[in-house]
Amino acid sequence: MLQNLDDLRNEALKAIDQGNSPEALNDLRVKYLGKNGELTLLLRQTGKLPAEQRPAFGQKANTIRAQIENLINEKREELIKVQQEKKIQEEKIDLSLPGYRLRKGSMHPITMVLDEIKDIFIGLGFSVVEGPEIETDYYDFQALNIPLDHPAREMQDTFYLSEDLLLRTHTSPMQARTMEAQAPQLPIKIIVPGKVYRRDEDATHTPMFHQVEGLLVDERVSLSHLKGILLSFAQQMFGQDREIRLRPSFFPFTEPSVEVDISCFACGGSGCRLCKGTGWIEILGAGMVHPNVLRMSGYNPQEASGLAFGMGVERIAMLKYGIDDLRHLFQNDLRFLRQFEN
Ligand code: DAH
Repeated sequence: MLQNLDDLRNEALKAIDQGNSPEALNDLRVKYLGKNGELTLLLRQTGKLPAEQRPAFGQKANTIRAQIENLINEKREELIKVQQEKKIQEEKIDLSLPGYRLRKGSMHPITMVLDEIKDIFIGLGFSVVEGPEIETDYYDFQALNIPLDHPAREMQDTFYLSEDLLLRTHTSPMQARTMEAQAPQLPIKIIVPGKVYRRDEDATHTPMFHQVEGLLVDERVSLSHLKGILLSFAQQMFGQDREIRLRPSFFPFTEPSVEVDISCFACGGSGCRLCKGTGWIEILGAGMVHPNVLRMSGYNPQEASGLAFGMGVERIAMLKYGIDDLRHLFQNDLRFLRQFEN
């Protein structure tokens, strides 16, 4: 049986020497030292030996066990190290490779148009002011010559927060707020960009949209100033060849009131699908500030006169970029928005 031990040791050492992976060495550990391993089985037969041989056999078996165990561990570590080094070699980072490109975001078309509108009016000497989106009935309506129960209120279906508070239906309340804060000093020359709200929703209306209001109050302001300013705006926004025309209209806070059309930039005025064959495209409402409005906000209509205008930013963006459905602007569809990357 001692001979058996020697044979087993020699066989095991040879096998370990030839083992070429950590897994193979694990298998060898099981084969020789495991619960049913060859050495384990031999040891179990110790009882069959004459009593005086048992200690020597046991000792030898334990020595061999330790030897096999140590060799397996050593070899295994060696192999793992080799494997790791090989992996590191293979994964070598190539610093000359280009990095992952981060996709750049872009301005929303509404923001782009708002910025452009602001730039144009700043260039004409206007300053930009903003106002509250939660407004009082007084500033949204009464100070604009729309008294309580006046039928003109029906033009703007309103989100009321209480009897006196509402979501502003237009940017015009900032006309009254600005004049009130500055009266009787002249001049006032402001634009008011911002969000407005109305109870409206279909293909051409969203409950929230954007407007830019304009107000100029000074001595002897006339309709020709209004026309000159808006012509300059139309040409900078839609091309140097644009013309404008004023059509009579009605707003409670201006007298006279006008709708302003620009000559169609798609056909140059000869008539096409965009302008529905008329050669003209409506872009905003405007007029001369109503004397009542001046008076309520602290100006004497004998001394001061004003012009005002209000435009819808979505409409201008849709015209400018050829967007056919208002809802594209608010659905956050990246396929739409990415067209505005620059
Ligand atoms: N506030 C009007 C609206 O929302 C637009 C408007 C028309 C503003 C004429 C003006 C103006 O300042 O003079 O329908």
